[in-house]
Amino acid sequence: MLVNMKDLLSDAQKRNYAVGSFSVANMEMVLGVIKAAEETRSPIILQIAEVRLNHSPLALIGPLMVAAAEAADVPVAVHLDHGKTLCCIEQALDIGFTSVMFDGSHLPVEENIAVTKDVALLAREYGAAVEAEIGCVGGSEDGSEDIAINCTSPEQAKRFAAETKVDALAIAIGNAHGNYKEEPHLRFDILEKVHELVSVPLVLHGGTGISEKDFIRCHQSGIKKINIATATFDSVERSVRESYEGGRIHGYYDLHQAEIDGAYKNAKRHMGVFYSVQKSDDINLF
Ligand code: 13P
Repeated sequence: MLVNMKDLLSDAQKRNYAVGSFSVANMEMVLGVIKAAEETRSPIILQIAEVRLNHSPLALIGPLMVAAAEAADVPVAVHLDHGKTLCCIEQALDIGFTSVMFDGSHLPVEENIAVTKDVALLAREYGAAVEAEIGCVGGSEDGSEDIAINCTSPEQAKRFAAETKVDALAIAIGNAHGNYKEEPHLRFDILEKVHELVSVPLVLHGGTGISEKDFIRCHQSGIKKINIATATFDSVERSVRESYEGGRIHGYYDLHQAEIDGAYKNAKRHMGVFYSVQKSDDINLF
């Protein structure tokens, strides 16, 4: 069932868990993530970032993501991750995405607020939810830029949330996209302060490589959406490689199945840690 992301995050706030937001790049990943969600009865978000659209064009993968969400028997929101241009955000909304992110984290705060407000106005016309980012998560979604971490100022987060009225707010607490070069040390002091000052559901980007213990502490302290990208791609690649090495691939459809299995295993593991298991059936969808 295709749902608005805002509804999923409100339920996660009420029942104290986080919704996994899984990046996908092809049909096999979509099938694997949805299979894990249906099996564990977890609400989920399927997402793709604007920088990935050179590999997976939005006009092709977008309708596939929406159709898969509609056909799923658990609630699924479909989200544009790290939207950078208004035309891409508008295209995602036209295709039926139920949530879009505007990433103005690299802009001066006044400009980030101004453009986020414009995006929010546009998204509301479609009945879609909006995510924005304050502070700066490290790295970049596709690893093409080495962006330094700039931890969120709790006071600025409070002002940003009040002025933009976004439905989800991504914050920077020492997290970064891609595989961490060394063990991440998340700034729980900042997270707790933001959680105290801001009532909007918070988003943790850069989920790959964060420990189970830290994930749990995050979703018990206001993080209600957790983004996972690299771990999915790595799990799919590993599953394919091990299947070849184990002599289990004898043709294209074995390869197809190995990709689905890789996405499925990774998503299922995360759903357990996020406490989203068994939350789909009695979810309150307003
Ligand atoms: P990872 O690639 O580190 O899992 O980050 C995902 C993400 O935050 C996408 O926006």
